[in-house]
Amino acid sequence: MTSQLDYVFPQGFVWGSATAAIQIEGAAREGGKGASNWDVFCREHPEKIFDGSSPEVACDHYHRFKEDVRLMKETGHTGYRMSIAWTRIYPDASGAVNEEGVAFYRALFSELLTNGIEPNVTLYHWDLPQALVAGGGWENKSTVDLFVRYARTCFELFGDQVKLWATLNEPGWTTLQSYVTGLHPPNKTSHRSAIQVAYNYILAHTRAVRAFRESGNDGQIGLVLNMSTIYPQDPANDADIKAARIADGVLNRWFIDPALKGRYPDDVWTLYKDDKLLPAHTSAELAEIKADTVDFIGVNYYYPHFASADAPESAYHLNTSGNKDESCIFAIKDLFRFVRNPQGKFTDWGWEIFPEGLYDLLMRAQEYRPGIPVYITENGIGMQESLNDDDTVDDRGRIEFVTEHLKVAHRALQDGVNLKGYYMWALMDNFSWVNGFKKRYGFLFVNRRTLDRHVKASGHWYKKVSDQNGF
Ligand code: BG6
Repeated sequence: MTSQLDYVFPQGFVWGSATAAIQIEGAAREGGKGASNWDVFCREHPEKIFDGSSPEVACDHYHRFKEDVRLMKETGHTGYRMSIAWTRIYPDASGAVNEEGVAFYRALFSELLTNGIEPNVTLYHWDLPQALVAGGGWENKSTVDLFVRYARTCFELFGDQVKLWATLNEPGWTTLQSYVTGLHPPNKTSHRSAIQVAYNYILAHTRAVRAFRESGNDGQIGLVLNMSTIYPQDPANDADIKAARIADGVLNRWFIDPALKGRYPDDVWTLYKDDKLLPAHTSAELAEIKADTVDFIGVNYYYPHFASADAPESAYHLNTSGNKDESCIFAIKDLFRFVRNPQGKFTDWGWEIFPEGLYDLLMRAQEYRPGIPVYITENGIGMQESLNDDDTVDDRGRIEFVTEHLKVAHRALQDGVNLKGYYMWALMDNFSWVNGFKKRYGFLFVNRRTLDRHVKASGHWYKKVSDQNGF
């Protein structure tokens, strides 16, 4: 049977999908949960979300998790990447553990395990307890201490059920949107704050890894990064090559180097030093970072960047409307400006579809540390979709997107990458941050009026791929 397939994956390859707590759970004021920064931001600033929507109810996964696990099973899942809401475990970040929150996640993990689905759990996917916001949130190193306490608690409470952990989701992207473009809470536009937060994230990650080792847990722990490949606009132009290099330094190497090499990249450190923007740090902290070694790396990949050195002004714009004519803009004055690939094929939200970028990224992870286990922790396409009269969704665009990315993932495997699994973003249509609910990503279509789930064509297709371990 398998011999007729063109792409066969290694035995035990994980076929999964991903979500994050705030994007699907809902029940924002139930089960003893405390408010997070995103809960408050969406309540206070609906005008900053494309359709004015909020994660208050989201997909109501909190109440429907058993049905969702059943649908995972039906769509061939052998793994599921999710996050824990910090505010369900510590509602105000510093007080006592909320037993109702613990019970919810234990029940969810148990349901997954009973159905043969391995949880891969991220501790922090951008929903910070609101109680920490007034004190400066991630700008304040006391948040690092509280995060480590929360991480330690999770290892103790769930370590018997969860064997795959990730500390943070995309520290780079969340720093960028929260402290540079100002699109995400706390809506700041300060390079100084951004650099401090980025540093504090890595410190929090490092200490959580150490706490994990000290806990004696027999699982594995890693970091999830958005390592979008950055190419020079003109590969023969030295200035563009330099622009791509520094963009990669600021957005990617600042995070992956400490995690896999134990040190910050010299060129970026020097850049920040020259601009008097170095984060507050101690040599003891840098020594801690040196000692950190992750068990695996998770890579999220959506689209590549092409960098030009022609960056006379800083400028940011994210297409949150799904209007194809609207471009995404990102430039940092005198360093780099991302430009649209004239040959590119784009989603309605202006994200280029470029599977080859995933291959380059996987090969790069392998170069950093040959043999390191790698998971594709997110990859997917946001689309405008509706339900047919017969309750089906023909999302062949998604099937094509995933197929093309799996093909290059397979090539990377052949070329030596220790790729362990693929988690499509996302299990179900969900709260897509400032894009609201219009941008749909799921294997499961969620009817926004009834919250009923419907398996899309891609979900049925994925079941087959998973059963055959290839296609
Ligand atoms: C990743 C995040 O950056 O991209 C997910 O980890 C997110 O949480 C996904 O939803 C897609 O981005 P967006 O903004 O289109 O939802």
